[in-house]
Amino acid sequence: MADALTVLGIESSCDDTAAAVLNIGKDDDSRPEILSSVVYGQADLHARFGGVVPEIAARAHAERLDLCVKEALSEAHLCLDAVDLVAVTAGPGLIGGVISGVMCAKGIAMGANLPLIGVNHLAGHALTPRLTDGLTYPYLMLLVSGGHCQFLTVRGCRAFKRLGGTIDDAPGEAFDKVARILGLGQPGGPMVEREALEGDENRFALPRPLLDRAGCDMSFSGLKTAVLRTRQTLEAEKNGLTAGDRADLCAGFQAAMRDVLAAKTRQALAIHMAEYPDEPAFAVAGGVAANKVICAQLETVAEEFGARFSAPPLALCTDNAAMIAYAGGLRYLMGEQDGMDLAARPRWPLDTESPAMLGSGKKGSKA
Ligand code: KG4
Ligand code: ZN
Repeated sequence: MADALTVLGIESSCDDTAAAVLNIGKDDDSRPEILSSVVYGQADLHARFGGVVPEIAARAHAERLDLCVKEALSEAHLCLDAVDLVAVTAGPGLIGGVISGVMCAKGIAMGANLPLIGVNHLAGHALTPRLTDGLTYPYLMLLVSGGHCQFLTVRGCRAFKRLGGTIDDAPGEAFDKVARILGLGQPGGPMVEREALEGDENRFALPRPLLDRAGCDMSFSGLKTAVLRTRQTLEAEKNGLTAGDRADLCAGFQAAMRDVLAAKTRQALAIHMAEYPDEPAFAVAGGVAANKVICAQLETVAEEFGARFSAPPLALCTDNAAMIAYAGGLRYLMGEQDGMDLAARPRWPLDTESPAMLGSGKKGSKA
């Protein structure tokens, strides 16, 4: 298709090795088409360590990237000759993994004589609502994952303004830690959500941090510690937790998380809509958006404000390479390109004008 740009995307910034092929219309009005999106997860490799081990992740990316690219091309029924651009996550992320992806992309670009573009992983997430739902700029975005939590006004493929974010743990990180505290498996989010179905969210009074503060910064570290203290108190009282205690704690924790995210979304929407009152839209992405209770509450908040709500399908909410191909393709169509000196950037804020956050999820690198 001469009027479309065919982009090979590569993603390896954390624990998912991913490749995708995407067509983007050169005319801005046409919708992009995902021809393939392949993700090789690494959960099995990291499970016994209770978290992602950077060295193991980097090695697995290096071993699997070429297979993943091959599979993505084969699923798209294309060979490299049909590709117009190689887009790769160049950060932020775990340095070893990002280097693996950048080296792989450089090799392909050089070997096939293709242009190369390095993409900010967070831009990939932030632009996904355009890819999946055709949202028009500007829109408000809540990126809520295992390593990040921030509100962004998205005004263009290179124009992001951070309105606020977590000053300590990311919500997914807090879900994972609470699961560990309660002896549940990893990743913690789905485990806690399942336990919470049976629980009473009102039994334990857990904190809703920073609700008294203006703006949309958040904090989740104290909430997680409150779960730990409650567990310790229960254990001291009766020598262990019952299934009911565990379910009630999960429900209480999830409700506190839901309430904080909803309240801060109200503040962020008010700030965003003061500047952009017409046809407001609010999108959420990242693994925590998979939580039904939280997602439903965020949709209700969007309705309160008369804003269109978008939550991409789960496979495009979590890490994938289609979003990288899309973000890279958009920038290439605006005349940007990188050279063979493209460097991996483990830290790479999306909004370089706002002051750095105190913390953006302690894992810092995972988005
Ligand atoms: O976006 P993601 O797949 O990976 C990155 O962090 O980049 O997000 C993973 C995080 C994990 O912390 C996981 O526990 C959380 O998202 N998560 C959930 C749910 N499913 C995944 N948190 C709450 N409820 C869920 N259903
Ligand atoms: Zn991510």
